[in-house]
Amino acid sequence: MNTDIKNHIVGFGTFDQIGKINAQFAPKKIMLVTGRGSYAACGAKEIIGNNFSPNEYIQFNDFEINPKLSDAQRGTELARANNIDLILAIGGGSVIDIAKLIKALYTANPNKAESIARGETAMSDPNIPLVAVPTTAGSGSEATHFAVVYIGKDKFSLADQALLPNMTILDGKLLQSASAYQKAINGLDALAQSIEGCWAVGSTDESQAYGFKGIELLMTNLSKILTTNDEESLQNVMLASNLAGKTINISKTTAAHAFSYAFTGYHDVPHGHAVWLTLPEIFAIHLEGNCETVNDPRGLEHVSSTLRHLTKLLGIQNTQTTGDFLRKFLVRLGVEPDMQKMGAITNEQRSFIPLQVNLQRLDNNPFILGKKEISRIFSIS
Ligand SMILES: [Fe+2]
Repeated sequence: MNTDIKNHIVGFGTFDQIGKINAQFAPKKIMLVTGRGSYAACGAKEIIGNNFSPNEYIQFNDFEINPKLSDAQRGTELARANNIDLILAIGGGSVIDIAKLIKALYTANPNKAESIARGETAMSDPNIPLVAVPTTAGSGSEATHFAVVYIGKDKFSLADQALLPNMTILDGKLLQSASAYQKAINGLDALAQSIEGCWAVGSTDESQAYGFKGIELLMTNLSKILTTNDEESLQNVMLASNLAGKTINISKTTAAHAFSYAFTGYHDVPHGHAVWLTLPEIFAIHLEGNCETVNDPRGLEHVSSTLRHLTKLLGIQNTQTTGDFLRKFLVRLGVEPDMQKMGAITNEQRSFIPLQVNLQRLDNNPFILGKKEISRIFSIS
């Protein structure tokens, strides 16, 4: 079923309708932000070629996975030089985040770029429409008003309502060409974002409704798309990823995401994989939480009720063995759960991480994680 909901086009094969952005926004020059190999492999390049002549857009794909400020600045210069009036992002989370950063920096004084990326200076809205077409089902960036940006090894999250895309196309067909590992870790990112968005201190009834539905769709469809290109399953995983984005757009993420950025920044572990190196043990610790450690002002019963629903949706029957259950779940998806085997941590880092973790950044976690819990998460005896 193809559904047009306001500016959002949803359905398998609907990327064919990309020409609608001309009727909607009448752009004179489009900034097309894409990945490299994946852009052609997923079929998007051919469809763009069928709908736009080369002089209608300028393409930017000269950047690395994990959005860096310097890459965004280069993209912004290119956008300005071409006097663009629409940004079209076709790709995974990094591509959509780079497009958001170009929008954030478009009218800014270049000297202020780092300060804007760090969230110290507010961005100004250039009023350029942003159209986001995810070609991976994971980040949900098309549904959020945040943009992740790395400055050196450090990750920042730029937030502004102007960064929420004006139009999205959710087409599961674009997921077909990804490898099984890519599909698995992207889907796992969406699953983590749904779980974290449901138990976050910042959660609401609305964010939980998105998150619970997203988990249900992922648990039914994610493993299927690793071995088949079943259209309904691909579309459902794309929808689940979008729901996960809507969840964290309200709730934000919690400890597993906070810890993941060091694995990615220092050891190049892909984001969706990095999040799951700690999530199984964090989940187990949450199930042992009590009224002394609860961090949510709504109280222990509120959080326990959310955890009960999450364990049911994830198929966890014995809560005593949650960590092992979730690690085995990763193995079944072809994803290594051990941070040491992944080369995501050195022995030296194991000893200083509990001292280095900024506990302030864990404010959104439903339970307080002290040094003992953090040592356990990083398996320090
Ligand atoms: Fe994520």
